[in-house]
Amino acid sequence: MSAFEVFAAWRPAANTAIGISQAAAADPSPDKVDLSVGAYRTEEGRELILGAVREAQRRLEADPATNHEYLGHGGNPRFCRLAAELALGAGSAALAEGRVASIQGVSGTGSLWVGAAFLSRYYRRSRVALLSAPSWPLHDLMMERAGLELRRYRYYDETTRGLDYEGMLEDLRAAPQGTILVLQGCGHNPTGVDPTPQQWQGILAAAQERQLFVFMDNAYQGFVCDLEEDAAAVRLFVDAGLELLVAQSFSKSMGLYGERVGALHLVAASADVARGAEAALQELIVPMYATPPKYGAAIATTILADPQLRQQWQRELAELPGSMLRRRQQLYDALQEVGVPGSWEHILKQRGMFSYTGLTEAQCGHLMERWHVYLTPDGRISLTGLTGPRCRYVAEAFKDAILACPA
Ligand SMILES: Cc1ncc(COP(=O)(O)O)c(C=O)c1O
Repeated sequence: MSAFEVFAAWRPAANTAIGISQAAAADPSPDKVDLSVGAYRTEEGRELILGAVREAQRRLEADPATNHEYLGHGGNPRFCRLAAELALGAGSAALAEGRVASIQGVSGTGSLWVGAAFLSRYYRRSRVALLSAPSWPLHDLMMERAGLELRRYRYYDETTRGLDYEGMLEDLRAAPQGTILVLQGCGHNPTGVDPTPQQWQGILAAAQERQLFVFMDNAYQGFVCDLEEDAAAVRLFVDAGLELLVAQSFSKSMGLYGERVGALHLVAASADVARGAEAALQELIVPMYATPPKYGAAIATTILADPQLRQQWQRELAELPGSMLRRRQQLYDALQEVGVPGSWEHILKQRGMFSYTGLTEAQCGHLMERWHVYLTPDGRISLTGLTGPRCRYVAEAFKDAILACPA
């Protein structure tokens, strides 16, 4: 009998976005539409490699200094600095004052995990992590596995399919002093609902009032509006003088998903704390994976450090939010044409890569089984899985699912 007999009856979790996307890939149906995928697809349904990324790869290939030696525990220092400047702004006072500790993570997920481990080990003011209802499921998993206690703040309003701003503020103001507050800077996953700049001011005030420790996840900078606007929430908190953690990802903004490029920045109250905390972060990394992957960070560094290549990247990136907005409109139009019951304005109002459709779990199951339309069971769809010609099919599928499985 195996020491791990319990696993004989286990099967891989099939309801994660990546699990569902893999099921979609294995589905031979010519009708299938994968709306679960968390990666950008062109309006023709293809993966996208940015021209700036191809050019950076070409340069790295041609550079005799390119090698496969280990990076240090904290990764590529040039990458870390450029990533911090992108997140916080090149003119950031915190950076100028040396108050930012940065490490290269294994993309956004790995950076969040190092951050969660750091808080679990070194943050003394609270063991409670406050997450949006709902949040990206990995936030829940990470905070819990890091030994923190999960609590929720109201975020998504089912009736308006927008932000429950008043509820959110009430919950933040009722949080115990020093609670860890997990926020998403833009393109909220899974709801597609972001606070307005004015609402961010209110959130900042509540965080200050309760001395909450903000852990900001900014996985979608440049994917919602542009690189500046999508960083505004992070910079608001940093410029207000709060200590906070920022997890950053280049999966979406450079299309480097599988290369695992990201960073974690601790903005500290003093340069001394930042220096020591950077050493502590590196110590945490040693038994996890020792050093992060090198190639993707080299691509990102090549792009960020070269003004011409950086401009090319920014031009290419600037096309993507517009493309996702077009697809929102196409889906909305198709839903209207087909006469799908209910109001669908929220598809137009929500932002970024995702829309929270309001479809129930049963309706999502029906969509997958009957129509080969794949989405996560919470009703989240990724707009980038849509192509114009398939919108009508998806709208017809929605209508059938709503009629077949009433909410
Ligand atoms: C909210 C959020 N945070 C972080 C990530 C991290 O992505 P990655 O690990 O590819 O950088 C994602 C990816 O989907 C996300 O949606």
